[in-house]
Amino acid sequence: ALPRRVQIYEVGPRDGLQNEAGIVPTAVKREFIERLVAAGLRTVEATSFVHPAWVPQLADAEELVAQLPLSGPASLPVLVPNERGLDRALAAGVRHVAVFASATETFARKNLNSTLDSQFAMFEPVVVRAREAGLDVRAYVSMCFGDPWEGSVPVDQVVTTGKRLLDMGATQLSIGDTIGVGTPGHVATICDAFAGVGVGVGSGELAMHFHDTYGQALSNALAAIQNGIVCLDASAGGLGGCPYAESSTGNLATEDLVWMLTGLGIEHGVDLQSLVDTSVWMAGVLGKEPASAVVRALRT
Ligand code: HMG
Ligand code: MG
Repeated sequence: ALPRRVQIYEVGPRDGLQNEAGIVPTAVKREFIERLVAAGLRTVEATSFVHPAWVPQLADAEELVAQLPLSGPASLPVLVPNERGLDRALAAGVRHVAVFASATETFARKNLNSTLDSQFAMFEPVVVRAREAGLDVRAYVSMCFGDPWEGSVPVDQVVTTGKRLLDMGATQLSIGDTIGVGTPGHVATICDAFAGVGVGVGSGELAMHFHDTYGQALSNALAAIQNGIVCLDASAGGLGGCPYAESSTGNLATEDLVWMLTGLGIEHGVDLQSLVDTSVWMAGVLGKEPASAVVRALRT
């Protein structure tokens, strides 16, 4: 049976804007986030407290967070790779953070300047201290469905990486198809493998994060829901991509997901037209066509 409700974890302001060539003004980012919350999204990943030279697009994290409604209706998580990032996030008053691990050696080096094994030593104090401070801590795992340098990625390696992060104290895992190569059967295999080691697939402990490089994101989202997943990541208008992942394009578009959920009779809490209007506005700011088919169909 399908779930009654699916939680949408919106990543447009972070995954979307980290990958744009131009730097979006802080005031525009703030308006983007406020409009997403007004459209009904209850989790909107706002920015990243990473090294500003690594992701200059999000170098204004402190300035942005200072302008956000941190005690409003929505949770506004931020990415933190290490203790320096956590210190910055705590000083800014953030209540929800996310670490981001790699399931592969090459991407750990390229994205984190670390190794598959030593990344855990970087995350451990972040997760422990954030939990002690009462924060929610999500943990991403990237390259779970394939890696541009290493090719196929063993499911065991994905599960081991994810399990280590949960054992540290992370409250939710997000399984990332960073380069969008996954297909629905692979989604089912990964869900089964996590369920097999006791991870709460149907409780929201496991989320999934699809990029749409090969046009599979919406099919994969359906497969995830059919396999019990109740939290899915998506990006308004289909913005997104990782500057350190070759061949990564936009995320599953939030509008496409909302359209499908509505059709399936699954609650999501989002006002689709407000969301479409927001993505059309943002595409105009960025000077590009919206990637989402639903946005193109519904724009006025
Ligand atoms: P590093 O150069 O190895 O850092 O980078 P370090 O620990 O050696 O420190 C070097 C200097 O940087 C020090 O300063 C630190 O204080 C400073 P110095 O003493 O030389 O003056 N520093 C910092 N400054 C500000 N904020 C910080 C910070 N950390 C160190 N947080 C590091 C290691 C992890 C920092 C770097 O590799 C990094 O910032 N990487 C981030 C890359 C990134 O943001 N990628 C995109 C997000 S992941 C993604 O998109 C995938 C996802 O969507 C899921 C999916 O699709 O699969 C989540
Ligand atoms: Mg991503």
